[in-house]
Amino acid sequence: MISIRYCALFALFASLCNCDEKLRFASYYGHHMVLQKSPERAVVWGYGPEGEQVIVSLLGPFPQTTPPVTVTQGKWNVTLDPVEAGGPYSVMATMNHCTVQLTDVLFGDVWLCGGQSNMCFQTKMVFNATDELQLTAQYPRVRVFMTGKHQSEQEMDDLAEVQQKWSVPTTESVKEFSAVCWMFGRLMYANLNHPVGLVLSCWGATVVETWSSTRALHQCGLDHDMLGTENRNSRLWNAMIHPFLKMTIKGAIWYQGEANTYVNTETYNCSFPAMIDDWRSSFHEGSGGQTALDFPFGFVQLATGTIPNPGYRMNNEAIIRWHQTADTGSAPNPRMDKTFMAVAMDLPDDMSPYSSIHPRDKYTVAYRLSLGARSVAYGEKDVHFLGPYPQEITSINHSLIITYDQVVTVAASEEGFEICCPDVKAPCSLESPWEPAPIVGWSSNSVQVSTAACLSTHEVAAIRYAWKDQPCNYKACSIYCAAGSLPAPPFTNTTFAITRFIVAQELKKEVEGLVL
Ligand SMILES: *[C@@H]1O[C@H](CO)[C@@H](O)[C@H](O)[C@H]1NC(C)=O
Ligand SMILES: *[C@@H]1O[C@H](CO)[C@@H](O)[C@H](O)[C@H]1NC(C)=O
Ligand SMILES: *[C@@H]1O[C@H](CO)[C@@H](O)[C@H](O)[C@H]1NC(C)=O
Ligand SMILES: *[C@@H]1O[C@H](CO)[C@@H](O)[C@H](O)[C@H]1NC(C)=O
Ligand SMILES: *[C@@H]1O[C@H](CO)[C@@H](O)[C@H](O)[C@H]1NC(C)=O
Repeated sequence: MISIRYCALFALFASLCNCDEKLRFASYYGHHMVLQKSPERAVVWGYGPEGEQVIVSLLGPFPQTTPPVTVTQGKWNVTLDPVEAGGPYSVMATMNHCTVQLTDVLFGDVWLCGGQSNMCFQTKMVFNATDELQLTAQYPRVRVFMTGKHQSEQEMDDLAEVQQKWSVPTTESVKEFSAVCWMFGRLMYANLNHPVGLVLSCWGATVVETWSSTRALHQCGLDHDMLGTENRNSRLWNAMIHPFLKMTIKGAIWYQGEANTYVNTETYNCSFPAMIDDWRSSFHEGSGGQTALDFPFGFVQLATGTIPNPGYRMNNEAIIRWHQTADTGSAPNPRMDKTFMAVAMDLPDDMSPYSSIHPRDKYTVAYRLSLGARSVAYGEKDVHFLGPYPQEITSINHSLIITYDQVVTVAASEEGFEICCPDVKAPCSLESPWEPAPIVGWSSNSVQVSTAACLSTHEVAAIRYAWKDQPCNYKACSIYCAAGSLPAPPFTNTTFAITRFIVAQELKKEVEGLVL
């Protein structure tokens, strides 16, 4: 029998001390990976022969060795002491007669990237892909991992398939990796200057219901599955998210919703926030409390494009955009604490060779997400990540003055704003006739729109903005923030008063009552 010390030493040079696969790590622990840094504690788990004792040691800047744990039902797990950002480390799991090890492991922030085809959209397909891929060499401390596509009727403890093992970024290893996930990661790295691990779990044309547990769906009355194939309720949650629950993560980003423009559109305002809540409580519990119960969750508000599905109705993209914010227009909001949103409706790409539903400007999407993450996830004070939102709407001299919560850049437009007149069969709804309300003037933080279309009274029952499948040309909506980079998100006040809830901190009390 080989001693642990000899085995460990030898392990530095070879993949040694043949454990005959009896002792191994779970599928998503690998060479070059990123484990969650302090203050959280990384959880490491794997498989071994029943009843054996396993210890895990870390060789690197801050070495440590865990107390032995016993293999129970074929599995073992350890929770490491907190490790500050850095590396590289070797992570070794040792049984009495053998050692398995992972090399070049870094500690940093682990972000999970989920969603449908726009999250899967590969880096080699973006605008200026060659330049983007050449940048990979500058980010050796951003690491990427991709889950294989798999569905399951039961919640799985580990992945059935790994599409891409943990990799150091190169043109080759990133070209088929998610563009949004990669660019978000490299932008975060440039800001944090510590390692970033990116775990991608995506599948094209999938609805939110398949990424949600039965618990989450039940909250929205979605117990019965009406969908075909890979869109069955909970199938991808079971096979592509549930396996990660034990891993400690920093946060998640999400790009999905297109498939819900023709399936369960009306309930997305329930199903999406419920999925976020459920992921949060499940990851928290699964990691033994290491992943924060309110981990930051960023998402992309739907871009634009032609939805090639017969079930699609006009303006359903606008409805999903609204429902993505739990019908508040903005994120974070009282229903969705610690979330952040990248508005993307001004990034259409009708000429995209991958169809207009897959716009190629993923850099702007990732950049807007990174601003939200810096503010919401990392608490950076001076990061401006929210586009302008109405604070007050007043009626004056045959027009409405929309006062924004910040200084605006305005491009006069006949389109953009629409009004619903009180003489329609009230109350105003999506089905009501909506009339254009052209911009007729503006000040530094307000916009004046004409209500002339409401002929009889000039009174207005409701107003909405950017309520179309494709409301703007490329980076050319009517309203942006002062610096011109963040578009005002869509809003409607048919059912909800216009209010914005900006600072998550100030809301804590209010939110606790609502969300938990
Ligand atoms: C880790 O293993 C212990 C037994 O050693 C078990 O009680 C616990 O549930 C496991 N934790 C996880 C997150 O699997
Ligand atoms: C692509 O590169 C060109 C030239 O460097 C630049 O002008 C353009 O803005 C880039 N496009 C995108 C979407 O990044
Ligand atoms: C969701 O939106 C529908 C209309 O599409 C509305 O009837 C329902 O009350 C909203 N539900 C929630 C939870 O906001
Ligand atoms: C109200 O609008 C009318 C017609 O557009 C204009 O002649 C008048 O000066 C406006 N009054 C005020 C107070 O702005
Ligand atoms: C929507 O805005 C209009 C114009 O300010 C206002 O008259 C109406 O009361 C608002 N409706 C709701 C439901 O807040």
